Amino acid sequence: MTDPSEDKTFALKALLTDYQQRIEGVLDRWLPGENIAPETLHRAMRYSALDGGKRVRPFLVYASGRAVGAELDWLDGPAAAVELIHVYSLIHDDLPAMDNDDLRRGKPTNHKKFGEAMAILAGDAMQALALQIIAHDKAMSVSAERRLRMIDVLAQASGSRGMAGGQAIDLEAVGQKLDLPQLENMHIHKTGALIRASVMLGALSREDVDEGVLKHLDHYAKCIGLAFQIQDDILDIEGDTATLGKPQGSDQAQDKPTYPALLGMDGAKARALELHDEAIVSLSDLGETADPLRWMAHYIIARSS
Ligand code: IPE
Ligand code: IPE
Ligand code: MG
Ligand code: MG
Ligand code: MG
Repeated sequence: MTDPSEDKTFALKALLTDYQQRIEGVLDRWLPGENIAPETLHRAMRYSALDGGKRVRPFLVYASGRAVGAELDWLDGPAAAVELIHVYSLIHDDLPAMDNDDLRRGKPTNHKKFGEAMAILAGDAMQALALQIIAHDKAMSVSAERRLRMIDVLAQASGSRGMAGGQAIDLEAVGQKLDLPQLENMHIHKTGALIRASVMLGALSREDVDEGVLKHLDHYAKCIGLAFQIQDDILDIEGDTATLGKPQGSDQAQDKPTYPALLGMDGAKARALELHDEAIVSLSDLGETADPLRWMAHYIIARSS
């Protein structure tokens, strides 16, 4: 007899593939074509945004939205917006002035392919496009006021009090010894903020979503956001470049403060598991519609890429 939980896991894995394919099409439609001027900029944007990545953030938008009863069509725009901010952050993260990495999603980094100036602009333009999508997308079902709230959520998560701020902390921390609260603060901002925004944007896509449910979802998102970066740090040591699609050992080479560096490998893994468990507890008021979110909490700490 097959174990029903195995069937469920299989279905949820298939759901990740479904959403990956779906977001690929959505991004393809929103990104200007390679033949539209300025062609090089549009080629650079499409090069990094299409055909790659796990698409964890779009998955979270879809899964969180579906958990509160939103339609998939309402979620395409927010899912694309958050992925575009994420891809912009990756392009800039890889620049020589930041992590100086040559490989991303199994391909040469954007600046290796298009030059630093074009890579900077590709990131800039993606950020603007992300906000434009939420302002503009006709398939979303929410009021203008809710769109404003969604833009507010995404802009805050991206800016100096969110991802960009976390990246600034990261750059200034190179070669320094951070204590645990400082390291956690850096991770919460550079990676956690956008993951939190993904879950929020999904849920906010339903106009009459319950504010109490939003609070539980937000706590879930905080936990998995931090766990995500802990696993990223673990994989920088334990992963391999081919599977990761980005250079293994980049953190150590640059003497970055990381969870394994501070807590040891076992300590980092234990912390990730603890956060996973706390994330699951946050969802206890939600029924089976939240199963994809539960599965994603596990995927985040078990992934090898
Ligand atoms: C990598 O993010 C950068 C971090 C925020 C840790 P992902 O591991 O989600 O990268 P992709 O999108 O799958 O390439
Ligand atoms: C980057 O963290 C977080 C971002 C905002 C992009 P990392 O520098 O650890 O991400 P990777 O390992 O290069 O993907
Ligand atoms: Mg970095
Ligand atoms: Mg990096
Ligand atoms: Mg990393």
